[in-house]
Amino acid sequence: MCGIVAYIGPKEAYPILVKGLKRLEYRGYDSAGIALIQNNEIRLVKQKGKVSDLELLASETSVVGSIGIGHTRWATHGEPNQVNAHPHLNSDESIAVIHNGIIENYAALKEELQKRGYIFKSDTDTEVLVHLIDEILKIEKCSLKDAVRLALNEVSGAYAIAVISLKEPNTMIGARKGSPLILGIGENEFFIASDATPVVEYTKKVIYLKDEEMVELNRDGSFEILTIHNEAISPKIQELELKLEMIEKGGYEHFMLKEIFEQPKSIFDSIRGRIDSNEGTIKLGGLEEYKTRILNAKRIIIVSCGTSWHAGLLAEYLFEDLARVNVEVEYASEFRYRNPVIDSDDIVIAISQSGETADTLAAIEMAKQKGCLILGVCNVVGSSIPRASHAGCYTHAGPEIGVASTKAFTAQVSVLTLMALWIAERKGTMTPSEIKQILIELENIPSKIEKTLENSVDQIKDIAKKFYESRNFLYLGRGYNFPAALEGALKLKEISYIHAEGYPAAEMKHGPIALIDEEMPVVVLANNDSIHEKIINNIQEVVARKGQVIAITTANDVEINKLAKHIIEVPETVECLSPILASVPLQLLSYYIALMRGCNVDQPRNLAKSVTVE
Ligand code: AGP
Ligand code: GLU
Repeated sequence: MCGIVAYIGPKEAYPILVKGLKRLEYRGYDSAGIALIQNNEIRLVKQKGKVSDLELLASETSVVGSIGIGHTRWATHGEPNQVNAHPHLNSDESIAVIHNGIIENYAALKEELQKRGYIFKSDTDTEVLVHLIDEILKIEKCSLKDAVRLALNEVSGAYAIAVISLKEPNTMIGARKGSPLILGIGENEFFIASDATPVVEYTKKVIYLKDEEMVELNRDGSFEILTIHNEAISPKIQELELKLEMIEKGGYEHFMLKEIFEQPKSIFDSIRGRIDSNEGTIKLGGLEEYKTRILNAKRIIIVSCGTSWHAGLLAEYLFEDLARVNVEVEYASEFRYRNPVIDSDDIVIAISQSGETADTLAAIEMAKQKGCLILGVCNVVGSSIPRASHAGCYTHAGPEIGVASTKAFTAQVSVLTLMALWIAERKGTMTPSEIKQILIELENIPSKIEKTLENSVDQIKDIAKKFYESRNFLYLGRGYNFPAALEGALKLKEISYIHAEGYPAAEMKHGPIALIDEEMPVVVLANNDSIHEKIINNIQEVVARKGQVIAITTANDVEINKLAKHIIEVPETVECLSPILASVPLQLLSYYIALMRGCNVDQPRNLAKSVTVE
């Protein structure tokens, strides 16, 4: 994980780096550091903690210079402390490196370098890079670019790096493999960053470096892209669509809250231009080219992680129910290591907000080698997963900064619904009027979410006040709402650190029912759907054991009103879309509970937004 940002140009680098690091902080926030070339020396400032802690430290010293690199870390090797924070320097402090990823053969390289007299200060894998570059520079007497290139040929693993050196104070090197890296091209100035957020206010022109590509940036405004095997690459400059206001809090206390409230718009954006509800038709340009293959597929394999996996599980219900196609949903990290049976005519759908999740990326590379068609359902345009996919659909939810995924999830579900209907329409597994009904309902979802947001906040705050000190929560759902229950539980645990378990409501009696007592809040997703009677039975079972039921239900549900102490009402919709509406109050509940517990909602401990390491 971690965020990297670097600058070379006529301006002062420090403010650009710090601002960039703050934008990237969602990627990692256990320590941060910067290095600049200042009066022929490398000026290094690094600190345990947040970027704001780094700023405090930097305010006591001088950080001047127009070439510099910055890093916000999510530790993989070595505890989060000042010494292990990046940048890392070589022994004579003439080279500085920042790195996102894992150097897998670092132990062997470190041993070799130590034998040759190199002294390591940190416990990180990254430090081998800087000593390796140092050694190559000394032996080969080559340019910084060549030294970095040769060093990268010796490492295995994943990296996005930026390197500066006193010997070439007007040059900066960047490179990537497995971890993302963007190059921003301004007027006689360049930026390197893990994503576009640190760059957007300075330039819209970017280049997305590919795996094993590197770049040499020069102060005179020239640059060169090449592979680590020394092949020249002609640059493909792209225009950024990102706007500054999209990545700011816009008056909300937290990004998570802003993103919860953005859902009417993000869902609207995810379906915009893709449906004609009068005709009952779906247009997904990305899939058209592979139509025959998709329609003939006997099986769809969905690979993803975390919240995106929950969207994948929901997609299993959608694709099987609506399009009558066989689906398997896989945790990417398990799938890639368990020798799964994959046929070349299987379709693999990779779901990912960031488009950078290392396990998901590796899973699709594996499936690609077996000849599968890969479809990406991703949010970040131009990220690695869509680029590694044959085709797919962007979710268009806009940047999601809060570490807990909210609007990206509901946009994923909307897009996956469209994909299922797209197949259903073309395969004839649903009648046009059935399709039309769901499309009309999908168009109504944004206003129904608006209504939920207007009506339920105070009530949810009250429930949060009652339960924020609980140590455990159970979330129950059936059918389409089972994945939503899992997602509700994940939201609570990741931002409030309360243990929460999601379970199929009927499965509860096979074990978790033993946990229920008068202390246990049980959130039940009890929409008015085809298994409503069954979920009422499950609520009875909880009530009989004095569990505290918090029911998410549709308006005026007399029976549930009688049974549950706490009710949060959501508008009625078709069954397959009900988990979208049920998810919104669950997001708010976890948000307010975390707030009352004094947790850092946008940057929960130990987590990072995009998990670019295994
Ligand atoms: C969501 O709230 C989590 N922070 C996490 O589970 C996330 O969904 C997971 O890491 C997958 O990320 P992706 O969608 O960017 O691939
Ligand atoms: N592996 C490096 C470290 O532990 C980089 C981790 C990261 O990507 O933040 O320092």
